[in-house]
Amino acid sequence: MPAIALKGSDVQWTCGDDDTIMRSALRAGLGFPYECNVGSCGNCRFDLLEGEIEELRPDAPGLSDRDRERGRRLGCQARPLTDCVVKLRLMPQYESRFPPVRQQAELIEVRDITHDIREFRFRLDKAVRFLAGQYAILDLPGVTGNRAYSMANTDNDAGEWHFQIRRVPNGAATGKLFDDLAVGDRIGVDGPYGMAYLRAESDRDIICLAGGSGLSPMVSVTRAAAATPLLAGRRIDFIYGGRTARDICGKDILAELPGFGSNIHYHPVVSSDDEAWDGHRGFVHELAGKLFSDRLPECEVYFAGPPLMGQSIQKMLIDLGVPPAQVHFDQFY
Ligand code: FES
Repeated sequence: MPAIALKGSDVQWTCGDDDTIMRSALRAGLGFPYECNVGSCGNCRFDLLEGEIEELRPDAPGLSDRDRERGRRLGCQARPLTDCVVKLRLMPQYESRFPPVRQQAELIEVRDITHDIREFRFRLDKAVRFLAGQYAILDLPGVTGNRAYSMANTDNDAGEWHFQIRRVPNGAATGKLFDDLAVGDRIGVDGPYGMAYLRAESDRDIICLAGGSGLSPMVSVTRAAAATPLLAGRRIDFIYGGRTARDICGKDILAELPGFGSNIHYHPVVSSDDEAWDGHRGFVHELAGKLFSDRLPECEVYFAGPPLMGQSIQKMLIDLGVPPAQVHFDQFY
């Protein structure tokens, strides 16, 4: 197995077959900066000083041509072919509370949530712990490349990881999940990853903002928050946005939690002029600004969903002066 050495230090770790430099570092307990794990965000850039790598996604948008010319590479996309010497700054906040593990899992149940969102329940061969809001990389048979999806449930001894996933039109991975995979089938799972996990030690109120598959991590965060003793006196507001009335979901899931209606409040919003809808209209960031502009700077804010939604929420939070340390999201698209 290739050895990876960090220049200017005595830090060294080994990278398993078919693993990447970044993921192997996280498995070794090192704080290798990252976010998306799929080559988009650029947070895992490092300088390759010696050695050879294979780039799993040569056209990854997280790296510019200039970065490449300078010898920079993406840790999440770099599979070492030889021993390597790398240069980067490790950061303690990226050290995994529960280091990610690669293994197999079995599909044990599938449930419909809406016309295009389903919950896929997997049982890992070996239970691994995770933090609410984290995600996993799924390796689906016959599908090229890996996909990142967030867990909707919370840490459990049974090793069950549940994913609420929205079907992507013509998407190879969701096509496999929705149309081909049957209960009893096995897939590869690697995780947990992600920094947008519940800050359980904070006693601030919580605001969760979600659309599409972003339902999954926001449900996990809300479930875990509802189970902490700190919930007493703490409020959770959950906004879920969809294009039409039939996209709206999540209320029945949250309604099972203790504190729903008293501490936990659900606010659906529809962006089209769908006549079947008589609730809030507009986009998620618009409703959040309308309902909570005064409170947002005092809250922990979690969000997940499609890229445009995420960008609009980020802008709204900056405009309202919400401190970045209170904003939690992972962009893996
Ligand atoms: Fe590697 Fe985002 S590009 S973690």
